[in-house]
Amino acid sequence: MNGTIVMVILAVTVLSARALDYESDILPIMKEHCFQCHSEKENKVKGNLALDDLEDMRDYQRAKFSLIRPGNPKESHFLGVLKMGEGDDDFMPRKGVAVPSKEIALIEKWIVEGAPFKKSGAEKKEGKGELGKTAMSQQTLDWKNLEGKIIKARFVRLAGDSVMLLLANGKSYRYPLAKLSEESRAQAKKLAVDKAGI
Ligand code: HEC
Repeated sequence: MNGTIVMVILAVTVLSARALDYESDILPIMKEHCFQCHSEKENKVKGNLALDDLEDMRDYQRAKFSLIRPGNPKESHFLGVLKMGEGDDDFMPRKGVAVPSKEIALIEKWIVEGAPFKKSGAEKKEGKGELGKTAMSQQTLDWKNLEGKIIKARFVRLAGDSVMLLLANGKSYRYPLAKLSEESRAQAKKLAVDKAGI
């Protein structure tokens, strides 16, 4: 084989082997089409989903029974809502124009590849992350809101003016601190301090 052919083959292999990751490949698409309603930074978190909350996306929205199911695009609701007809109630972007099919294909490929978050090597092993371990060791606690309603969930962390809770069904839930009873607010703050101290 002469050198040129080897070079060409190498170049093609490198191109097609470049793994996709959320932060470099998917986030820019989200920013363009979704942040208007799903951004922590822009303070618009519809459906409890902040696509720019990387910790939440990595640890809770991407899991076997979550919105993004690594390796399983068919069961990933996240992809499903993008592929729906624009008239469908659950279609995303809501009341908007469909994400271009080329970008949807990229998101699908990313899920097939296991929905990695960062470029290979930079990512913590799933379930072994510090956050995952801490959350797993937490007990399910009662959280009371101002109306006296009780939510049973594990504490994940504080996120701005909200507390991130993990429900028994594996969904993470963002609850505004201002809507919690004083007791539950204190509980969240104490847990956040305890966690930071580990
Ligand atoms: C104009 C506002 C708006 C835009 C833009 C938007 N969404 Fe949504 N999204 C919503 C609302 C409102 C909900 C909550 C729907 C409900 O609870 O019925 C939601 C819910 C969702 C859910 C479901 C969460 C769940 O737990 O079932 C997903 C997934 C989602 N959006 C993804 C996206 C993606 C991806 C984009 C960008 C392509 C996007 N959305 C753009 C308003 C929007």
